[in-house]
Amino acid sequence: CCTGVVWLTQRGNLKGRGSQQGLEPQHLTGTLILSVFTAVLGFFQYGYSLGVINAPQRASTAYQIPFKTGLCPQGPSTLTLYWSLSVSIFAIGGMISSFTVGWVGDKVKAMLAVNVLSIIGNLLMGLAKFGPSHILIIAGRAITGLYCGLSSGLVPMYVGEISPTALRGALGTLHQLAIVTGILLSQVLGLDFLLGNDDMWPLLLGLSGAAALLQFFLLLLCPESPRYLYIKLGKVEEAKKSLKRLRGDCDPTKEITEMEKEKQEAASEKRVSIRKLFSSSSYRQPVIVALMVQISQQFSGINAVSLSSERIDTNCITVGLIKPNILNEFLQVFLVEKTGRRSLFIAGLIGMLASAVAMTVGLVLLGTFAWMSYMSMVAIFLFVIFFEVGPGPIPWFIVAELFSQGPRPAAIAIAGFCNWTCNFIIGMCFQYIADLCGPYVFTIFAVLLLGFILFAHFKVPETKGKSFEEISAAFRRKRRSAIKGHKAATELEDLRGSEEA
Ligand code: GLC
Repeated sequence: CCTGVVWLTQRGNLKGRGSQQGLEPQHLTGTLILSVFTAVLGFFQYGYSLGVINAPQRASTAYQIPFKTGLCPQGPSTLTLYWSLSVSIFAIGGMISSFTVGWVGDKVKAMLAVNVLSIIGNLLMGLAKFGPSHILIIAGRAITGLYCGLSSGLVPMYVGEISPTALRGALGTLHQLAIVTGILLSQVLGLDFLLGNDDMWPLLLGLSGAAALLQFFLLLLCPESPRYLYIKLGKVEEAKKSLKRLRGDCDPTKEITEMEKEKQEAASEKRVSIRKLFSSSSYRQPVIVALMVQISQQFSGINAVSLSSERIDTNCITVGLIKPNILNEFLQVFLVEKTGRRSLFIAGLIGMLASAVAMTVGLVLLGTFAWMSYMSMVAIFLFVIFFEVGPGPIPWFIVAELFSQGPRPAAIAIAGFCNWTCNFIIGMCFQYIADLCGPYVFTIFAVLLLGFILFAHFKVPETKGKSFEEISAAFRRKRRSAIKGHKAATELEDLRGSEEA
């Protein structure tokens, strides 16, 4: 029925529950591609900011102004202090702003507005040489952190809402692809002979402002989320127009019916605040899952591994580490709709656990067998690859899938806040823990990973191919059967009690 639409057939879905969907072709229009690409530019900037901060530490002019003016005693410890502040203030900015995502209204206009933060932050860093560079860098990092925190909530919400059900996972994976591309680009550009030197570091730091500008102008061409227009604003005609732009000439009836069902469900409970999300028992299960997947992503130890590898060789290893990441992410885009989120998430965690054990063995026996260094290296690579299989990308988009339109913004806000807080904790504490535990440091992550695997096995539902309404209905069914089970158990206990009496 569609003209100007690219058709994709999901051959892998031809059996069982997914068979109907497998036969139903999915459409990927130019507008959908443009909208997703534009949105994930926000995650690209997040990745760039994560990876870029090492180079200025090496460039001798970046934090030198206060030394020259005699404001601070010169020395490596003051330099480390400024550098650590630049790193952690970014995460603090992200923590604060991610929490406010629930209050932000329409997605496209909100993404447009928050871009201003990125442009200001990058300008401050890009012009740092002309003022007190240490203050300008730290202020610029704080403001870009604010931008990235908002972006890390708004982008998955928008992408989840504009994607057709059967492509939601594949398109959701692009967040992580954008992050690793950002990290890789910043690290390549940060090499000494490119921009990571005394003259060019301001350009290196401020360069993601170009992505912010690009995102700003492209956003003007993107349609607003049809779910937001239909369910939140009740603008049926505008929602249909937006859906038509995103889906081409295809019949929108099925999606409109889905949105109508969600709207009716949302109407029965109005706006869901963060407090309601925690107090209402009907959201308890999805909230726990949403928080635990974030905790699993961060406490899996991925950033600890990056920190350790940077200590081995800043120029080669980190750049080398990210390359398989990107290839892997491309594969992941196809895998996630074929295999499902839950299995990939669990498989990734199991692989990370095995790699953490291998890393520990390698580090402990390094003094005895020289070849153990190769084993540790391979284990590090595998650890990162398994992370990208599931625990990396899935937490970014699964939260938008676990909740219907009413509670979604509040849920994304708390999940984002949780992710940034865990990220901050690892950044602050890992060095101390590593010094304390020596070669055994990764056993901590191995134990945590085992816990996350068990949790995911028992609690994380499969969301592949299900509409938002079906997912929340599944949680409701689970809750009802848990209540029934609890009632039956209480009745049985009462019965036993009265028999004994
Ligand atoms: C994830 C994490 C982030 C990490 C990155 C590495 O997106 O949220 O903390 O640095 O993956 O690829």
